[in-house]
Amino acid sequence: MNDIMKNLLDKAKQASKNAYAPYSNFKVGAAVRASSGVIYSGSNIENSSYSLTLCAERNAIFQAVSQGERIITEIAIYVDNDMLFPPCGACRQVIAEFASDLPIVYASRNEIKESTLSELLPQSFLLKHD
Ligand code: THU
Repeated sequence: MNDIMKNLLDKAKQASKNAYAPYSNFKVGAAVRASSGVIYSGSNIENSSYSLTLCAERNAIFQAVSQGERIITEIAIYVDNDMLFPPCGACRQVIAEFASDLPIVYASRNEIKESTLSELLPQSFLLKHD
């Protein structure tokens, strides 16, 4: 794993410490690097009304986009669990909105996996073209 991804994963791990997950106790952190080079991070935020929960990945991406970013170049995700989990389908679709393809690293306490958006979400739905 290159230094950019190592740093991003470290930021994702830090973000997982701020997860608000009193219902699932499943703490997730994500960090994205935008085309400006700036890193944005986020954690999952749950709600008593369960369906209002926001995943860490979307939180990190929305932080970036709401600061004016439009392209993300890498994403790292950390789950504070013994098992490894790839990002959920909804988050894959949101990643696709802001990246044509990009490296995705996801990690648990025990394992790290390097993948790409095209591997995790082939043939994604997109209305815009550039
Ligand atoms: N979660 C994420 O933050 N990212 C994912 O890709 C999958 C699930 C969160 C949502 C919820 O707070 C908890 O993990 C259990 O689903």
